[in-house]
Amino acid sequence: MIDRGPLRVLLVDDEVEVLRSLHRILDGAGYAVTCANTLRLAISEMRRERFDLVLTDLYLGATDLGVQITQVARERRPFTPVIVLTGRPTFDGAKEALRSQVADIVVKPVVPEQLLSTCRRVVQETEMARRNQELETANQVLASVLPRTIEMKDPTTSGHANRVVGYTDTLARRLHVSAEDRASLRLAALLHDIGKIGVPDHILQKPGQLTPDEMDIVKRHPAMGYEVLSELPEHDNVRTWVYQHHERWDGGGYPNGLHREDVALPGRILVLAEVYDALAEERSYKKAWPTARIVELFRAQAGRQFDPDLAHLVADGLEQQGARFFAASPDLLF
Ligand SMILES: [Fe+2]
Repeated sequence: MIDRGPLRVLLVDDEVEVLRSLHRILDGAGYAVTCANTLRLAISEMRRERFDLVLTDLYLGATDLGVQITQVARERRPFTPVIVLTGRPTFDGAKEALRSQVADIVVKPVVPEQLLSTCRRVVQETEMARRNQELETANQVLASVLPRTIEMKDPTTSGHANRVVGYTDTLARRLHVSAEDRASLRLAALLHDIGKIGVPDHILQKPGQLTPDEMDIVKRHPAMGYEVLSELPEHDNVRTWVYQHHERWDGGGYPNGLHREDVALPGRILVLAEVYDALAEERSYKKAWPTARIVELFRAQAGRQFDPDLAHLVADGLEQQGARFFAASPDLLF
């Protein structure tokens, strides 16, 4: 971890005596402390310097509220935590503090150990929130950029990954797959063809029939996807289901010729949803199949390409509701 030196604290209170005593406590604990005794001064300090933590009195003079500082602090640095100090805890003050999303409220007179432990906790929580936000952003990038990259490699599949996410999730909800597995399944659906990045363009974009050798290269894409995703060890299920998305119930699929429940239910859902989209959408080499024809194929392939229960469930649903079967209904949202 990089040593960034002492944490910088802005201390705001309109009573000079209070400022002095708090300064002593925080300085003694190793913080680099800047003091301000008015809202104006505090704001100008924040424009001059970036603080890791702000401690402010709730009332500064007759009219100013310390929580106004929160807004300015966040404009400068979105994750700046603000701790409010108050000698007069009132309902209105607490409400105002809550509305401004301050990190904590400390009642004066301050007990040094309590104040320091609150500061430590708030700084830690803020750091965790910042890291979670970074992870969330990285996930969003992963989830939006990678499918677009696959689609640029293989333009015939425009929108395919996103639709397959919707189909798999609808099925997974209907089949009561756990929330955790559903989250992994959505990611697997989004990234299932990521291994196509490793297939040469002249094969992927070839207009005519592929030769057996070219077909062998295309068939490597689930393994290449597994390889790419090995950088995400905490997403073990995601890469397993990506690896298995061309397996078949009867063992005739690839890469490993797995049988039946060797592929877990979420993986079998992905197999079926992926095929449904390929059939239901128009591609450069084929028209969209009518629902009745898809139903016929699912019934014929129940127990062969697909998990029979799953294939009949989808065939029944498509027969009764058409393509609406795959639209997430509100009662499935919970
Ligand atoms: Fe694939």
